[in-house]
Amino acid sequence: MLKKADSDRLNAYMKKAEERADYFIGYPIAQDFDYSELYPLLKLPLNNVGDPQVESTYDLNSRSLEQEVLNFFADLFHAPVNNWWGYVTNGGSEGNLYGLYVARELYPNGVVYYSEATHYSVQKNIQLLNCQSIVIRKQPNGEMDYEDLHQMIQMNRDKPVIILANIGTTMTEAKDDLNRIKQTLASLAVKNHYIHCDAALSGTYSALLDLKPGFDFEYGCDSLAISGHKFIGSPIPCGVVLVKKNYKERIGKTIPYIGTVDTTITGSRNGHSPIFMWYAIKTLGTEGLKRRALESIETAQYVLGRFKEMGVNAWCNPDALTVVFPAPALALKVKWQLATEDGMSHLICMPGISRAKFDEFLSEYELLHASEHLQPVLTS
Ligand SMILES: Cc1ncc(COP(=O)(O)O)c(C=O)c1O
Repeated sequence: MLKKADSDRLNAYMKKAEERADYFIGYPIAQDFDYSELYPLLKLPLNNVGDPQVESTYDLNSRSLEQEVLNFFADLFHAPVNNWWGYVTNGGSEGNLYGLYVARELYPNGVVYYSEATHYSVQKNIQLLNCQSIVIRKQPNGEMDYEDLHQMIQMNRDKPVIILANIGTTMTEAKDDLNRIKQTLASLAVKNHYIHCDAALSGTYSALLDLKPGFDFEYGCDSLAISGHKFIGSPIPCGVVLVKKNYKERIGKTIPYIGTVDTTITGSRNGHSPIFMWYAIKTLGTEGLKRRALESIETAQYVLGRFKEMGVNAWCNPDALTVVFPAPALALKVKWQLATEDGMSHLICMPGISRAKFDEFLSEYELLHASEHLQPVLTS
């Protein structure tokens, strides 16, 4: 039992968290989940320590459900039959670290190429792995500048190429085009290459809707990472990483203490988050997930239209859930939890956020800002 003071402290925190959840339109987190049926599992210390495909002496785990989640994503991303492996991670950052780890084991002297719009964690991952790397310029929409990529690879043609492709950049949800990247590699006759796709937010819905350009294993990626708490939705951060199995086989030792193989980045792994993902997949099904994806894209178009009506210079990459617009006043950024970079903020139209919620923000924005952005009225 908590003491009165501690109970008051906890209640105050819970109230604050609920309030902040009401103004949460700037990060790519789905808000329509209800996992209350799973609450009894919170009594259990579930832990998927080690390899998801190899049973462990730590039998209080959710490996069997994790396997089903992995099978779902392997199908969705057209992973090569009988030649894929993966696990449920703590999030997209860990999945990217794993993909780069596999790439570095394959090509220890490889150079990692990634665009300047890449998520900040990738640079840290590269430092941890002690890899050589080159940052590639971005285009105005956030997509990689393929000319710059060509030039940089050309200057380092003696080294294997490791590409970190963004399938949805953090700020503008720009998607790097694997076809363009592969053309570049072919035109420079690069034989040793590896492509990892950081598909944190956009990967799941883009694959569900078969959006082009494609980016999955069929389109030439060697590994791919998504975040589970973004499009699928989860109260605990999580993700999935998938790699071609033959690449990863050089990683991982058998550890007698856990009675399984240590093939993942962390030791203990969350046993609850795979069950959240499993539950979402089973309750929504592919059709339900597709419907959420389409609704979210439509909401983004609606929000973009509202900004345009106000004369605000907002924009959106094709089929994206992210609407980019000139950064608002600090009070709005704080209230609505809006990330800002280079003078631009974004709204992310995630499942579970209603149009009414965006309307509420847009009215406040209009009150404070619209006159600054009004286009001159054209007279003939
Ligand atoms: C493009 C991209 N990659 C990676 C990440 C990191 O994902 P996570 O927060 O799941 O570690 C993010 C997070 O916003 C992201 O936008």
